[in-house]
Amino acid sequence: MVTQLNTPKIILDTDPGGDDLFAFLWLQSLVKQGLAELVAVTTTDGNVSAQKTFSNASQILGLGGFHHIEVGRGVARREDAAENAAHIHGSDGMGKLSTTLTSATHAYETARYSDQIIIDKLNAAPGEITVVAIGPLTNLAAAEVKSPGILKKAREIVLMAGAFHCSGNVTPHAEFNVWFNPQAAETVFNSRDDIVVLPLDVTTQLIFTREMAQAVSQVNPESEIAKFLVSLCEFMVGTALGYRETGGINGFFVHDAATLGYLFYPETLMLRRVRVRIETKGEWTCGQTLIDSRPAPKTGANAWVALQVDQTRFFTSFVEDLKYFIRQ
Ligand code: BDR
Ligand code: CA
Repeated sequence: MVTQLNTPKIILDTDPGGDDLFAFLWLQSLVKQGLAELVAVTTTDGNVSAQKTFSNASQILGLGGFHHIEVGRGVARREDAAENAAHIHGSDGMGKLSTTLTSATHAYETARYSDQIIIDKLNAAPGEITVVAIGPLTNLAAAEVKSPGILKKAREIVLMAGAFHCSGNVTPHAEFNVWFNPQAAETVFNSRDDIVVLPLDVTTQLIFTREMAQAVSQVNPESEIAKFLVSLCEFMVGTALGYRETGGINGFFVHDAATLGYLFYPETLMLRRVRVRIETKGEWTCGQTLIDSRPAPKTGANAWVALQVDQTRFFTSFVEDLKYFIRQ
């Protein structure tokens, strides 16, 4: 592996989470290929509790041989915060497969908090680190509140968040990562004017199928990563079908992987310059994300939002990169 100059340095903020884990495996492959550097993983309360997302991140890093990467523990959220998504991702957040993997090697009790890691890493390398956030935005907002202006020190902030011209997935109007902590999302969108957003509009076009899992696994069926990937896919397909997410297609949405599609295969996406607003109070619409599509002049854009994706090209690259990882 040759590390290239200008290799993107990445902090992954995540709440694993089945689709988080698929994104995580893809990122580990990109790191192994010398295409990315993983600076830290900051976990957050979301799909399952902060303690579980932390140990899931540790286990998946261990699976890929990345034990040395620091893992942050999630900042506490509000007492009245929303319910998690264990019904989709399994009670452990990884399709009930956590007991099949080597135990977590990072210690939750002594780990640094995620917001502090974000602050320290961005201060140490201003303008160099890309923050990829694929869970609720609690940690990023906490970092911004503690150290105002810190998120501007990121090279780029790339989010899986929101739903613009489509239904929400947790309420009729809201997407899970925003709905879980809308105030945090608002803080992040107010922090700079070039947030990159991969919303449900594109991620619900990204259905990872059993056939794709088999194609990846065939490269080295006996590898632990291949076995885990196939089993996790099987679990996620089961819940996706149960909740009628994919219109009967035998697959599941790899929402969070869209962020890596944007960073490493940008030809697969079309983005629009917009002002994103977050509904933080609505009785029926809390967590909704809005953009103005009226044919009138607009000012105050704060984001680039992906609204179209080329699924064929996206999955060609995703699957090939996973094969690379499994071959190792
Ligand atoms: C997002 O919600 C979570 O359940 C997924 O991991 C993804 O980050 C999709 O709305
Ligand atoms: Ca997630």
